[in-house]
Amino acid sequence: MENQIQAFVLISSITLALFVLISVYLIIRLKLNDILLKRSEGKLKNFNETLQYMVAEKTEELQISEKKFKNLYELNKEVLENSPAGIIKLNRKHEIEFLNHESLSILLPENKNQDDMLGQLISQIPQFNRAGWASLLIQLKKGKEIEGEETFIQQSKKSIVKVKGVPVYEEGIYSGAVLLLNDNTESILAEDKLKQSFTMLQKATGDIIQAMSYTSEIRDPYTAGHQKKVAELAVAIGKEMNINEEQLQGVKFAAMIHDIGKISVPSDILSKPGKIGKTEFEVVKGHSQTGYELLDKINFPWPISIIVYQHHEKLDGSGYPNGLKGDEILLEAKIIAVADTVEAMTSHRPYRPALGIDKALDEIITNKGRLYEPAVVDACVHLFKQGFKFTN
Ligand SMILES: [Fe+2]
Repeated sequence: MENQIQAFVLISSITLALFVLISVYLIIRLKLNDILLKRSEGKLKNFNETLQYMVAEKTEELQISEKKFKNLYELNKEVLENSPAGIIKLNRKHEIEFLNHESLSILLPENKNQDDMLGQLISQIPQFNRAGWASLLIQLKKGKEIEGEETFIQQSKKSIVKVKGVPVYEEGIYSGAVLLLNDNTESILAEDKLKQSFTMLQKATGDIIQAMSYTSEIRDPYTAGHQKKVAELAVAIGKEMNINEEQLQGVKFAAMIHDIGKISVPSDILSKPGKIGKTEFEVVKGHSQTGYELLDKINFPWPISIIVYQHHEKLDGSGYPNGLKGDEILLEAKIIAVADTVEAMTSHRPYRPALGIDKALDEIITNKGRLYEPAVVDACVHLFKQGFKFTN
C-alpha cells in the first residue's frame, strides 16, 4: 500500500513537472512569437513609411515633370504659332490638324480664321487644288518628302511660296505629314532687283571701258581698232582654255584698254613713220606704268590695272616694266600678251606692212615657254587652225 502511494506520488510529481515544463515552454514560445511579431510589425511600419516617402517623392517628381512638359508644350506651341515659316500639320487622311498664323496669312489673307481651316482636306484648299499637288501630296503617304515652289494668288495679292512636305510616323505607321510654307516673294523680288542692278552696273562698266578705249585710240589712229581686236582674240583664247566667266570678263575689259597709257606718249612718236629710236621706245614703254596708275584709281571688280601693268611682261623676265617672271605674271596678262603680239603682227603699221598670220604664229610657237605661256600659245594656235578670224 505504501509502495502504491509512493508510486502515485512519483507519477503525480512527474506529471506535474511535465505540465509545468510544457507550460513554461508554451509561455516562452508565446513570448518569443510576440517579440517576433512586434519586430515584424516594426519592420512593416518602417517599410510602409519608406514606401509612403518614396511615393510622395515620385509624385512630386512627376508633378515637376508634368509642369516642365506643360511649359515645354506651351513654349513649342508658342514657337510654332509665331514661326516665320508657315507650318501645317495634317492627319493621316490629310485633313488639317493644326496651322499657324503664317500659313494662315499665306493661304487666307484677311477674312477667315484658323478654325475655318481645321478639318479641311489640304487638297481642297484652293492653292493646293491644282494639277501636280494632288499627286505630290500622295507621295507623302509613300514616305517621300516633297518640295515645290508655287505662285499663290489671293485677292490680287501674288506670292511666291516654297512648300516642303515631310511625312510623320508614329510607332512605324504613317500618321500624317507636316507642310512648311516659306513666302519667298520679297527675297525673290529683292534678288531680281539685285540682278538687274548688277547687270546694269556691268553694262555701265562695259560702256565706260568702251569709251575709254575709243578715247585712247583717237590719239593713236594707227592702232585704231587694235585693242578691240586684241580683246576679241584674248576672249576666244580664254574660252578655249576654259577659264571661268568672271576671269573672262576681266580679260575682255583689260584687253579693251590695255594700251590706254599711250595717252601719255606724244602723238608724233605714236604716228612716226619708220622705226622709232631707243629713247622714243623708252617713252612708249612707259604706257604700261601710266595705264596702271590711271586704272588703279578705279575700283573694278577685276584686277584690270594689274593686267594692264603686266601686258608686256615675258615669262623669262625679259619684258617690261618690271621684268616679272613665270607665275609672277597674271594669266589674264599672259593671254593678252599673246593676243597683242598676234594682232600687232597681222596688222599694218606705219613702219612696216602686215606680216601675216603664219609669221605671227611662228613667233609665238618659237618663243613658247620662253616668252609666252605654253597653254596660251597652244590655245591660240588651235583657234587659228580651227579657222579663227578677226571680225573686222
Ligand atoms: Fe601695249
